[in-house]
Amino acid sequence: LVAGVDSSTQSSTVVIRDAMTGELVRSGRAPHPPGTEVDPNAWWDALQGAIADAGGLDGVEAMAVAGQQHGMVCLDADGEVVRPALLWNDTRSAGAAADLVAELGAKEWAEAVGSVPVASFTVTKLRWLARHEPEHADATAAVCLPHDWLTWKLRGTSSFDDLVTDRSDASGTGYVDLTGEYRLDLLERAFGRSDVRLPRVLGPAEAAGRTADGVLLGAGAGDNASAALGLGAGHGDVVVSLGTSGVVSAVTPTVVSDETGTIACFASATGENLPIVVTLNAARVLDATARMLGVDHAELSRLALSAPAGAGGLVLVPYLEGERTPNRPDATGALHGLTLASSTPAHLARAAVEGLLCGLADALDALVAAGVPVQRAFLVGGGARSEAVARIAPAVLGRPVLLPTPGEYVADGAARQAAWVLSGNAEPPVWAAADTVSFEGEPTPAVRERYAEVREMTAHRLT
Ligand code: XUL
Repeated sequence: LVAGVDSSTQSSTVVIRDAMTGELVRSGRAPHPPGTEVDPNAWWDALQGAIADAGGLDGVEAMAVAGQQHGMVCLDADGEVVRPALLWNDTRSAGAAADLVAELGAKEWAEAVGSVPVASFTVTKLRWLARHEPEHADATAAVCLPHDWLTWKLRGTSSFDDLVTDRSDASGTGYVDLTGEYRLDLLERAFGRSDVRLPRVLGPAEAAGRTADGVLLGAGAGDNASAALGLGAGHGDVVVSLGTSGVVSAVTPTVVSDETGTIACFASATGENLPIVVTLNAARVLDATARMLGVDHAELSRLALSAPAGAGGLVLVPYLEGERTPNRPDATGALHGLTLASSTPAHLARAAVEGLLCGLADALDALVAAGVPVQRAFLVGGGARSEAVARIAPAVLGRPVLLPTPGEYVADGAARQAAWVLSGNAEPPVWAAADTVSFEGEPTPAVRERYAEVREMTAHRLT
């Protein structure tokens, strides 16, 4: 058996699968505390809770941890956490990101590390720490990512020599280049020092040691790269994920560099590239709208499907907690076009689903414009469980979508990596692909146009 972990923004999930066939044997979950600043020890407790919920690790020979990307975990000389981790969706380092881009230039950043840093990236959080909490910056002896720290804890070691990461997550720090090498000059520029210990960057199938109980550890991965591995996404597949973040990503053989910053080019979990566009507002747009209307998700979906396409001109620009694509960290949301006729719960529900999908459609278009081939678009994540989202997505995205059986694709990717490390083979194990249902619909470009109009019209209030 192998175990795969998804330490996400909201919870820890553990899946235990047969290493040869990939068959699901058991699974467990435990919640994380809310907020964009979290003590990593809470993730550790949740991981233990999720393992217990899965009935323990009996029979598990190998394990890997995938996790939310970019989070800044600072450790002192004794290996203790210096301050709560700042997560990918914490936008306090927006000013630091703008400064770093202005200092070096967007083109230079894109060439150096494959991406133009935004507030999500670790490098901007380190600049923020150096400027705002110098005592914590001074106390920092090692810096790593959430999944690196969990793998290190699983090793049960306190030596920084055992601290490892993988290329996919390392590529989202902002101080690792496209070959997986550290750019200490960029770390120095951001943090004012480069004498901190950084995790060794492992290859996709390289072992990260063993737990005290002898379970072999994989290097793990960033959650988006792990989801692609879990889904078995190949060239020509695009994954549209509606989790806490909205993500459109693809595995490509070549680097996709974008100095406008819309596309970030991370590494995939298989040693290729993962061009990706990320929005800050996805599934929670549905949560917030359901809350405003005082209904549950099933009713929200029913309401959205009962309203006409375009919601009678009502548009929700869902920048509920700032936005990353477009890069407007201080934005708020906007509701535009209310008339007597459109002042109904159904119209608002429809506008929420369409607004959320319009952001993802822009992301998908950006990848296509950059030359990423799209033969199949998979719709995954908690938000994809909404029937309204699945039914309206083909119209807004302008192409059919495939909805895989709801599953834990991030944790599955980690389990598949664990099986790969265990096998010692050159390629990941071949596991049965998820069943999919295809959704089709007439494209509604007018909905996209109206959304773009309102987004620009309200832009002055969104910064
Ligand atoms: C990717 C990103 C998010 C997090 C969510 O750049 O910031 O998708 O990985 O966990």
